[in-house]
Amino acid sequence: MLELTDLRAGYDRTPVLHGVTVSVPKDGVATVLGHNGAGKSTLLRTAMGLIRPKGGTILLDGEDITRLAPHQRVARGMAYVPQGQQSFPHLTTAENLQLVADGRADGKEATAEALDLFPVLRELSGRRAGLLSGGQRQQLAIARALVTRPRLLLLDEPTEGIQPSVVAEIEETVLELARRGGLSVLLVEQHVGFAMRAADRYYVLEAGRVTSSGEGGTGSEQTVRAALSV
Ligand SMILES: Nc1ncnc2c1ncn2[C@@H]1O[C@H](COP(=O)(O)OP(=O)(O)O)[C@@H](O)[C@H]1O
Ligand SMILES: [Mg+2]
Repeated sequence: MLELTDLRAGYDRTPVLHGVTVSVPKDGVATVLGHNGAGKSTLLRTAMGLIRPKGGTILLDGEDITRLAPHQRVARGMAYVPQGQQSFPHLTTAENLQLVADGRADGKEATAEALDLFPVLRELSGRRAGLLSGGQRQQLAIARALVTRPRLLLLDEPTEGIQPSVVAEIEETVLELARRGGLSVLLVEQHVGFAMRAADRYYVLEAGRVTSSGEGGTGSEQTVRAALSV
């Protein structure tokens, strides 16, 4: 579905990714694990076209999208939920969703579907996003991405900084989305248990290089924990 091959990218004169190859299976989940600063967010930004790679290629269903702008990637079915539960804090939950839905022929339907996944957002539709809890803001951020009805969802640490009870809820939603079919997910996640339960394939990123990769599932969890503790 998404093939990132030998990607080299970074900021100005700071190279971050030193030849990263990651493959997201069709209708499956690839997870990227790694310590802070390893380059995980940089990898997602590069996949989305927010950073122009200095080398390597990005294929989406076989099409070379390496040079396409972010909006062209969105038009091809990619959606991105950045790290940090970002929404417009002064707009209400409903307005944040409407902003994405407006101008889309299927906006109303897609919004209703996204709200079915996160019923709590229906109750909070009139509340400003800035007043939501971290978990609720994360759910809103994912819901906004889903309003575009993506084929490929890039999720950057959806459970970061969220209270444990809501972590389980977000995990359940991501797993449910992945099970539904029609959606592939590239998930960056530091909770190893969640990352491996969700993963069809996993990649451990260290200092801009993939140092361990393989099949997902809980069977690989010990291998991954060992790779991360080095
Ligand atoms: N906007 C930026 N400008 C310059 N350097 C950055 C920027 N964002 C991240 N970096 C650097 O790139 C490296 C990788 O960061 P990042 O991709 O955010 O890692 P991770 O998501 O794995 O924690 C770090 O050394 C970080 O300091
Ligand atoms: Mg990050």
